[in-house]
Amino acid sequence: MNKPKIIIAIDGYSSTGKSTIAKMIANKLGYIYVDTGAMYRAIALYAMQNEIISEDIIYKKKLISSLHDIDVSFKYNSDLGFSETYLNRKNVEKEIRSIEVSNNVSRIAAISEVRKKLVAQQQLIGLNKGIVMDGRDIGTVVFPNAELKVFMTASAHIRAQRRYDEMFKKGDDITYEAVLENVMTRDYIDTTREDSPLLKANDAIEIDSAELNVEETFDEVYQYIKQKLEVKS
Ligand code: DC
Repeated sequence: MNKPKIIIAIDGYSSTGKSTIAKMIANKLGYIYVDTGAMYRAIALYAMQNEIISEDIIYKKKLISSLHDIDVSFKYNSDLGFSETYLNRKNVEKEIRSIEVSNNVSRIAAISEVRKKLVAQQQLIGLNKGIVMDGRDIGTVVFPNAELKVFMTASAHIRAQRRYDEMFKKGDDITYEAVLENVMTRDYIDTTREDSPLLKANDAIEIDSAELNVEETFDEVYQYIKQKLEVKS
């Protein structure tokens, strides 16, 4: 008999370690991992490349009418062990992680038409279950019936320090203050936007990733997964 498959939704603030945990779970269970933030980032990159967004303006109508020309997809890279993001068939995995994209993406993610397109695509990817999806609205909007919902938090300072350390290691020319400002601005936009603001679902388990290390966080989530899979089988 086939093992039962579930949907695992991991939401929370930026840089709480969502993607690290989501990837570990997907590898352990043989599930597909979907980084929905990458999809919003790819559209932000498209907007930047096509002069649709600048520091103080978004040509919203132009973006909305271009949405049918924007194809965001994923392709598994077996060397890396995870899927890379493609924008109109070009690998943009590195570009979408830049501070410039980070500075623009929340404004793009606040546009309802953008969300509608990506949520529909995400729901399609999850049709056969067996997925771990991370983002901001997965447990509330994309899969309100997900079998397991996790909501990850940590203080803005701790998250900024983590992000800064990662970027510094990669050789990015960036200051801690710039990263902190980006984290705080994104928190504000993500939690106050009208459409699908970042919100903990009532039935989500909350994990403060500042209190646990990666292994401890994984172990805790994995206990919940085992319970859910036992109930299902
Ligand atoms: O997880 P991330 O930092 O890569 O996400 C990039 C941005 O996209 C973030 O500012 C919020 C937005 N986002 C969203 O609105 N909904 C999602 N499901 C995922 C990300």
